[in-house]
Amino acid sequence: MMLKDKVALVTGAGRGIGQAIALAFAKEGAILALSDLKTEFLTETETLAKQAGSPKCILTQANVANGDEVEQVVKISLDTFERIDILVNVAGITKDGLLATMSEQDWDDVLSVNLKSAFLFTKACARPMMKQRAGVIINIASIIGIAGNAGQANYAASKGGMIALTKSTAKELAKRNIRANAIAPGFIKSKMTEKLPPDLVEKMKERIGLRRLGEPQDVANVAVFLASEASAYVTGQTIVVDGGLVL
Ligand SMILES: NC(=O)c1ccc[n+]([C@@H]2O[C@H](COP(=O)([O-])OP(=O)(O)OC[C@H]3O[C@@H](n4cnc5c(N)ncnc54)[C@H](O)[C@@H]3O)[C@@H](O)[C@H]2O)c1
Repeated sequence: MMLKDKVALVTGAGRGIGQAIALAFAKEGAILALSDLKTEFLTETETLAKQAGSPKCILTQANVANGDEVEQVVKISLDTFERIDILVNVAGITKDGLLATMSEQDWDDVLSVNLKSAFLFTKACARPMMKQRAGVIINIASIIGIAGNAGQANYAASKGGMIALTKSTAKELAKRNIRANAIAPGFIKSKMTEKLPPDLVEKMKERIGLRRLGEPQDVANVAVFLASEASAYVTGQTIVVDGGLVL
């Protein structure tokens, strides 16, 4: 098992990519601190994680954009497990619209939930990780943060910011044996992409080298690699998981 008894804190773990990462970590023997805005989502992940082999699992409800709530999640995780080996920042939202009409509120909401949250969790987890002299941070960004996208200026800025945050985190914390990497998924099947019109999805598939949408598991497999010792000499990187969409 690649993550036996490692303590992993995963945000946005209630469904989609976050749930897939939690379950992939569970299969590899990780102890889980799972967080989401929606507790009703988390209970399903907990049941599946136990079935998948996670030795221990706790659930916390929090809004990742709220500094006090983030501190509380990290405190509860540390009080319970005494360490945090792996942090995965997954929680994210979209509020799409053209730049000319995008409201300030939609800009702020997306930047807070997607980017500020990663800063808040990284800050809160960096302290125990520095004491442990070991840790792994994984940020779930997006290819939109690399390539940009019409109608997603707020989302693109948040994910591009996440990639820059990852590099700075890696540079700042490498001497403490803490690695930070990002994953930039392409078009992954989830509730987030489910709302897109079917004809747009078909057009999208034609542009993807592997001619299929990604599965949450495709992202989770890379997260396991980045969380494990198999990537011990990899830090500050962004791994694109998009089936060859952006080349
Ligand atoms: N699906 C894709 O194609 C795709 C592509 C690239 C990147 N991503 C990124 O992957 C991550 C997960 O996406 P997904 O497709 O699984 O989405 P999803 O909507 O299925 O899951 C997102 C999860 O985050 C939680 N969440 C939302 N706002 C929150 C908040 N304020 N506080 C705490 N939790 C909150 C939701 O409750 C949900 O469980 C996101 O950051 C997203 O931007 C997704």
